[in-house]
Amino acid sequence: MGRRPKDYMKNKIKRVKMKSILRAPKGMPDILPEENLLRRKIFKAVEEMANFYGFGQIETPILEETKLFLHGTGPTSEIVQKQMFTLKTPGGDILALRPEFTPNIIRAYLENGMSNWSKPVKLFSWGPVFRYEQPQRGRYRQFWQCNFEILGSSDPIYDVLTIQIFYNLLTELKIKNLLIEINTIGCDNCRPIWQKNLKNYFHSKQKFLCLDCKNRLKTNPLRTLDCKKESCQSLKEEAPKMIDYLCPECRKHFKQVLEFLESMGLPYVINHNLVRGLDYYTKTVFEIRKTDDNIALCGGGRYDYLVEMLGGKSTPAVGGAAGVERLVELIKKSQKIDLFVKPKVFLIAIGELPKQKSLKYLELLRKAKIYTAESFAHESLKAQLRQADKLEVRYVVIVGQKEALDDTVILRDMKASTQEVVSGEKIVEELKKRLKNDNINII
Ligand code: HAM
Repeated sequence: MGRRPKDYMKNKIKRVKMKSILRAPKGMPDILPEENLLRRKIFKAVEEMANFYGFGQIETPILEETKLFLHGTGPTSEIVQKQMFTLKTPGGDILALRPEFTPNIIRAYLENGMSNWSKPVKLFSWGPVFRYEQPQRGRYRQFWQCNFEILGSSDPIYDVLTIQIFYNLLTELKIKNLLIEINTIGCDNCRPIWQKNLKNYFHSKQKFLCLDCKNRLKTNPLRTLDCKKESCQSLKEEAPKMIDYLCPECRKHFKQVLEFLESMGLPYVINHNLVRGLDYYTKTVFEIRKTDDNIALCGGGRYDYLVEMLGGKSTPAVGGAAGVERLVELIKKSQKIDLFVKPKVFLIAIGELPKQKSLKYLELLRKAKIYTAESFAHESLKAQLRQADKLEVRYVVIVGQKEALDDTVILRDMKASTQEVVSGEKIVEELKKRLKNDNINII
């Protein structure tokens, strides 16, 4: 070894050990391998749904200008008022971690000239969103959504198609006892009259309202209907209902939606208090949950003014999103699924030269698409065989010192408890033949 330069200590990195391990930020759990397998299964179902119904996948940045959500999600929404993670870049831009997908997709639709595409434009997304909430069951600060949007049609058939897609997705995932809650919140012509009456009604009951609802009454009286507090429940029963104030167009639209739902045999109830927590909705709003649980698995609705609000031409649209963690929790609770792909072959190496050779065999097996496991970190034959046994692999390829020098391998049949020496060159061919005879799919 050469001499260390004199200023060696000056350049040496100072390693400071932490006194305790760090934890992930609150409400942002790590997603470990087993859960990722389940998420991939969910994504596969989402992708199949998207392919069938003609949705293209769109990826938008996780960070967007904060004002996109101020205008899009809406200034009176809880998301904008309390739940955004915002940051200032060194260049002075004010950005926010996306709290949902819808405004971002509209931004991308306008920015990329998708308004010139043939209509309706159907887009789906899958990824993390962020909301500063109090973490609890099914409620996280970082959670994943799968999101579907249909842009460019006011036809109620697309409201129902959106609901059908989510309903199908949940049933494909074997989630049972589903219930669709549906409502209409009208349009800019009829909603203000309802809103005024609603405000007057709750004003007359003000002394019975909770503090949050008193504030909601000032900013957005509709949100009062969203309140989950026990004290406000009985007041909501007597409140004016949007259905009694609908203009002819909104009435016709809602009637058609209900007729389509009926003809498709989709299980729904009208919930007059369902208004959804985002400012952009018009006409149809919906949520899907299990009959025995209040937690929403997905939600969405029509938003005919949002494209215009974000600077585009008037473009009716409808969409929805499902929370992936909520699906994962339900599937984990109710189903036993074997998600791991079982290897067909186990490769064992004993010693340095055998390890070198084994890396080459591993590549040959990969190219032949024979799914192979290894446990090279274990030095002893016994430990490696134990591992193969645990994985229930039928064929084990063993490379010892002698085999490495001879360019051979030992091929062991774990089921028959037999073994033979096979030329290294022929091992892939031999395994293919045996797996075929055993009727085992290679991957
Ligand atoms: P959202 O109802 O706010 O709608 O969210 C959709 C779904 O995300 C919920 O039904 C729920 O399953 C899940 N979710 C919401 N918050 C959390 C949370 N803190 N933790 C875990 N899961 C959560 C939207 O986001 C709209 N952008 C949907 C939409 C698309 N409307 C039209 N197009």
